[in-house]
Amino acid sequence: MTVLPIITIPDPVLRQISDPVERIDAAIVRLMDDMLDTMYDAPGIGLAAIQVGVPKRIVVLDIADDGEPKKPLAMANPEIVALGSVTRLYEEGCLSIPDVRVEIERPDTVTVRYIDRKGATQELHADGLLATAIQHELDHLDGHLIIDFLSRLKRDMVVRRFKKMSRDERA
Ligand code: NI
Repeated sequence: MTVLPIITIPDPVLRQISDPVERIDAAIVRLMDDMLDTMYDAPGIGLAAIQVGVPKRIVVLDIADDGEPKKPLAMANPEIVALGSVTRLYEEGCLSIPDVRVEIERPDTVTVRYIDRKGATQELHADGLLATAIQHELDHLDGHLIIDFLSRLKRDMVVRRFKKMSRDERA
């Protein structure tokens, strides 16, 4: 089990656009497993590779409740192929922005196409929390964060707070 360090704002790495995975090899499967370990350890329900400093289009998710059997999902090159017209409001958190919650309205259903850990193309139809989590993680692949949904004033306040925290840590 390998728990990787999670990058937090204001690290500019989080704004990078991630590159497609060219093929699923042992190193990619290992990365997916390490990302799952890292996500469960945090704990969180989703993690994108860029959050552990790897600019590849990989996300992992598991929305199972505590005590429920694990339902790990690992996706390479995920792409949204359909979004529902009904939206859902959810207060989202992010492992890269600890202790910040942002209320975000997103489509309540999503169909995502991706490559699984065996290299097979899969299509998944999700709704509710999983649909929200998929859209959140896919945002990371393009450098988007939940604070981007805030007003500029509020976003600047959050970023300033994290800048100060990282300065204090170094001091
Ligand atoms: Ni996040």
